[in-house]
Amino acid sequence: MKFITVDSYEKMSRMAANLIAAQLLLKPACVLGLATGSSPVGAYQALIDAHRRGELDFSEATSVNLDEYVGLDGAHPQSYRSFMNTNLFDHVNLPKERTFVPDGRAADLERECREYDARIASLGGIDLQLLGIGLDGHIGFNEPDDRFLKPTHVVRLHESTIRANARFFDSEDEVPRQAVTMGMGAIMQARKILLIANGAAKKDILQKAFFGDVTPQVPASLLQLHPDVTVIYSEV
Ligand code: F6R
Repeated sequence: MKFITVDSYEKMSRMAANLIAAQLLLKPACVLGLATGSSPVGAYQALIDAHRRGELDFSEATSVNLDEYVGLDGAHPQSYRSFMNTNLFDHVNLPKERTFVPDGRAADLERECREYDARIASLGGIDLQLLGIGLDGHIGFNEPDDRFLKPTHVVRLHESTIRANARFFDSEDEVPRQAVTMGMGAIMQARKILLIANGAAKKDILQKAFFGDVTPQVPASLLQLHPDVTVIYSEV
């Protein structure tokens, strides 16, 4: 594992964007695993800037997102599909039909989960998975549990996650209680993992996740067993 500490969100974002750009240049038809949340917004902006400068071509790539709230339509402003459109997809030449986000409104969510895993497998797996980390150690929405769950699954969000995500909604009551998340299987099978985190509040959980015990109580700790993980952390 490479653990890189930088001194600003901008540097974290630029470094992350450079690694994603390197993946795209090395293998234009790659599969990018993408995340939402506040951590990757700067990296996505840096990718958009590079694309606008004519340095980055997404036309052969495919993306698979980690998660989506249950019950939110893709058009809902707080859905993760909408987040991805606004923060990346609407501004680069990644064909929309090759951007995959779980469908949180699927009538049969179990089937949606199975099909999401089948899709990732049919794409040949993920080349580079971008991750953030929750204050409780979640990655995607794999929340602390007594076991690591491999497949894509429906999860009940923990109180701390609901509280943390309330900032994006008008009130905490509006935050969906459930989400569909890629499981630890597809994440761990990604060929490269890039986790970015910023802010002093994330320091303790990063310490636990990357230098503590490997335990499903800290889902991100499983990444210690992955052969190619880069963590970029900015305390400010
Ligand atoms: C979002 C996701 C989550 C976030 C995590 C950190 O797709 O998978 O695991 O990465 O909740 O969120 P931020 O970046 O907002 O602190």
